[in-house]
Amino acid sequence: MELKSTIIFQKNHQALQGPERFIVNEGGSRSSKTYSLCQLVIVYCLQNKGKVVSIIRKTFPALRATVLRDFTEILKDLGIYSLEAHNKSEQIYTFPNGSMVEFFSVDDEQKIRGRKRDIAWCNEANELYFDDFTQLNMRTEHKLIFDYNPSDNSSWLYELPPDDTVLIRSTYKDNPFLPQSIRNQIEDLKRTDEALYQIYALGQKAVSKSNIYSNWTFMTHRPARFTSYVYGLDFGYNHPTALMRVYWHERDIFIEPVIYESYLTTTMLIEKMGQLNIEKEVTILADYARPEIIAEMVNSGYDVINANKVVKKGIDYVKTFGVYCMENKDIKREYDNYKWKKIGDHITDEPVKLFDDAMDAVRYAVTYIKDEYFTDSAYVSF
Ligand SMILES: Nc1ncnc2c1ncn2[C@@H]1O[C@H](COP(=O)(O)OP(=O)(O)OP(=O)(O)O)[C@@H](O)[C@H]1O
Ligand SMILES: [Mg+2]
Repeated sequence: MELKSTIIFQKNHQALQGPERFIVNEGGSRSSKTYSLCQLVIVYCLQNKGKVVSIIRKTFPALRATVLRDFTEILKDLGIYSLEAHNKSEQIYTFPNGSMVEFFSVDDEQKIRGRKRDIAWCNEANELYFDDFTQLNMRTEHKLIFDYNPSDNSSWLYELPPDDTVLIRSTYKDNPFLPQSIRNQIEDLKRTDEALYQIYALGQKAVSKSNIYSNWTFMTHRPARFTSYVYGLDFGYNHPTALMRVYWHERDIFIEPVIYESYLTTTMLIEKMGQLNIEKEVTILADYARPEIIAEMVNSGYDVINANKVVKKGIDYVKTFGVYCMENKDIKREYDNYKWKKIGDHITDEPVKLFDDAMDAVRYAVTYIKDEYFTDSAYVSF
């Protein structure tokens, strides 16, 4: 049987024959970790009869959309996929020699505490808690395999016993099957955010810095290429209310502050938006913590919708764009002071809730832009 494989497959294949219990695939985006491990599981099952392999991820929908899809695709490419062998209600695939692969998520208590397996592979293993790992470790006979991007500052994965672990590092450069457009997007992180570049392009843990954003360019004029935009709106009273116009063009955004002012009542805000000719047909992404203000704005004819407020995701989204911003002292102050919360020396994934009004408004707008206009499979999500 011919297998088109990368060097990452070969390294894992070798590690599977070795004495170490843990095989750790730490790497950047699109380095062929997941694909190679699917191939590895298939080869293992074909060559060994009566084995049980568990493939686990934090949530099942994510597992289905990635590993399960690659797994069946590879079997189909090899011409050995059988519909009858695939029990879709249990999500178990059984090979003719009796070896089987089961797919489940860590919330599936029954499976996690269930019967023993020979090999466990945890995909995106950094999403799992140490407790999940402990459970799996107790009920796995032979080997545990992990793959992840080293995006966390600290993790149980970084503390596995070195003498019982094979560490396989990888980057997109190890994957010759990747289209140039994807390589370009990964390389582009160098321009948009150093920390993301380090993690997703180089596959290395980023040196933690407390400043959330870097690499923004402040300018006195908006370049003509920026024409499409939406608004992000964060309500305040003692804090400023921030209304930001956020343009996007290819992989860049341009931020233009429109309102940044404390002590605005709802009536004053709506009046001000009228004076500033804020278009009623342009979407405004607003903080849903204040539904009564949103309701009044909608009554006045504005197209206001609830913003997605998932903080870490929103910040990571902003980091995948080249950010240009209209020269403005308030925004500059927020940018300079917007930092991750620190506990001792440990930098958390949570921003300090200070100087974040414009930053929140920008994040609401960018989360919408990214989810609405950049979901195409041609765009890598990090
Ligand atoms: N051996 C291969 N043969 C053909 N295509 C491959 C092979 N390995 C990887 N690819 C292609 O490269 C893409 C990226 O690989 P993969 O998803 O395994 O990367 P990854 O390291 O898991 O990335 P991420 O960290 O983003 O999850 C795959 O979707 C597949 O299209
Ligand atoms: Mg993967």
